[in-house]
Amino acid sequence: MIDIHSHLLYQVDDGPLSLEESLVLMEQAAENGVTDIIVTPHSWAFAGEKNLEWLKERFARFQEETQSIPIQLHLGMEHAVDDYRRFIRQIDKDGILTLANSRYVLVEAMRLQDAEEAEEFVYEMKLRGYMLILAHPERMSSIKKDISIARAFRNAGGFIQVTLEDCDPMGSGMFHKVAISLLKEKQIDFLATDTHGLIRNCRNLAEVKKRIEEYCGKEFVRRLIVENPKNVLLNQEIKKGR
Ligand SMILES: [Fe+2]
Repeated sequence: MIDIHSHLLYQVDDGPLSLEESLVLMEQAAENGVTDIIVTPHSWAFAGEKNLEWLKERFARFQEETQSIPIQLHLGMEHAVDDYRRFIRQIDKDGILTLANSRYVLVEAMRLQDAEEAEEFVYEMKLRGYMLILAHPERMSSIKKDISIARAFRNAGGFIQVTLEDCDPMGSGMFHKVAISLLKEKQIDFLATDTHGLIRNCRNLAEVKKRIEEYCGKEFVRRLIVENPKNVLLNQEIKKGR
């Protein structure tokens, strides 16, 4: 598996508190078949001296500190988007940190209200050469009310990333129902862990993966956790199929 959404980098955002915690999580990931992780700290954690240069240095140090674990690390960010028009203006001014230097941008857009906004956001980003990946739509209140917003986002050319654990057919919880509906419709392009630390991570990743495979087929799951993520790392086009 290639995990495209993880707060594995310690002492940066609300992820692990120490290197030791990150190491335990990484060892656990390696045992569960994870080969690559894109670390995606929250954009809201950066201000003042904690800027992009600081993050790049922290990431380089983290790569050295975790060398003994056979997982390839890549740098990315989870961008919090309140007002997508303002977000785009900011990109026009400053550029943006994408996933592993690709054209793919991971966004948490909790305030996206309707299909029209979803389409416009994807369209404006595409015009600038960026492809949007919407993080955990199963957590968005607008999509809980109206799943067609996720369909519109995808149809416009955006991609959907759902938290792997929320798609566990044996699971429950607040986000499970929407995640399973998206899975049933195959309106998902990526499954990722969104690991936040020892308290919030997918401890039984291999088992959960197996249950999802039994539910919607091995081939489809492979696309969401290996093939599409690989295309992100290689900055290649991702084709949607059902
Ligand atoms: Fe996240």
